[in-house]
Amino acid sequence: MPIRPDLSDRSILVTGAGRGLGKAMAEKLASCGATVAVVDIDAAACERVAEGIRSSGGRALPFPADVADRSAMMDVAARFAAERGRIDAVINNAMLLRYEPIEQVTEETLERMVRIGINGSVWGAQALLAHYDPETGGAIINMASPVAERGYPNTAVYSLVKGAIVTLTKVLAVELGPRGIRVNALAPGSVPTPGALGLNDPAEYERRKRTIPLRRLGREEDNAEACAFLLSPEASFINGEILHVDGGIAAAG
Ligand SMILES: NC(=O)c1ccc[n+]([C@@H]2O[C@H](COP(=O)([O-])OP(=O)(O)OC[C@H]3O[C@@H](n4cnc5c(N)ncnc54)[C@H](O)[C@@H]3O)[C@@H](O)[C@H]2O)c1
Repeated sequence: MPIRPDLSDRSILVTGAGRGLGKAMAEKLASCGATVAVVDIDAAACERVAEGIRSSGGRALPFPADVADRSAMMDVAARFAAERGRIDAVINNAMLLRYEPIEQVTEETLERMVRIGINGSVWGAQALLAHYDPETGGAIINMASPVAERGYPNTAVYSLVKGAIVTLTKVLAVELGPRGIRVNALAPGSVPTPGALGLNDPAEYERRKRTIPLRRLGREEDNAEACAFLLSPEASFINGEILHVDGGIAAAG
C-alpha cells in the first residue's frame, strides 16, 4: 500500500525531475496533492513531466534551469514562490552520473560534477531559505548514495560529491533546525534509471541482484515513497538523517 500523506497545501521544488528518481519523486509528491516545481536542465523533459502530472489531475509547473547556476536557481525559486506564496520543501536531486578511472578525470568533468552536485545543493538550500514560511518551517531533501560510505573503484568524483552532500545534510540539519527546517538525505541504491543505465551494463545489474541483501534492484518508487514519508507530518522529528533506500547495500559494506 503506497504511503499517501496529505501534502495538498505544499509547494515543493524538485530538481533533476525530468527523468529517473527526480521524476518519480515529483509524480509521487503531486499525487499526494503537492504543487511541484519540475526543475531540469532538459527543457523538453521538464515540460513533459509537468504536463504528465497535470494530465493525471496533479499540479506542476515546469522550470527549465541549470542547478549549478545560482542566479538561475534563485530566479526559479522566486517565480515558483510568486505563484504559490511560499516554498515548503526543496529536493536537491539533479546530478551528472559519471564513473571513470581517476587518471581519466578532467578538470572539466570534476568541476561540472562538483558544480551540479555540491553547488546545486547549496543553491537549493538558499532557494528554500529565501521563500519558506517561518511559521510553518520547511524541509530539504538531498540525494546521497551508499558510495559516500565506502570505496567503489572508478567513482572518485561522484563519490566525493555524495560524501560532501552527506556532510552538507548534517551541517544544515543543525544550522537550520532552530528555524523549523528539517534537512535529510535519501541514499538510494542500484536503481536502473536512465542515468544509472549509462554507468552499468545489464550484466552488472544481474550480478548486483545476487549481492544486494534483499536480492533485487531498487525501484524508482521505493525512493519516491521514502521521499513522501520524509515530507509527511509523521516524519516531523526526523532531522539530519541519511535514509538508505538500498535493500541493505550500505549495511553489507
Ligand atoms: N540511480 C541510482 O541507483 C542512484 C543511486 C544513488 C543515488 N542516486 C542519485 O539520485 C539522483 C537522481 O539520479 P538518477 O539515477 O535519477 O539520474 P538520471 O541521470 O536518470 O536523472 C538525473 C536528472 O538530472 C538532470 N540534470 C542533470 N544535470 C542537471 C543540472 N545541471 N541542472 C538541472 N538538472 C540536471 C538530468 O537532465 C536528469 O533529468 C542523483 O543525485 C543520483 O546521484 C541515484
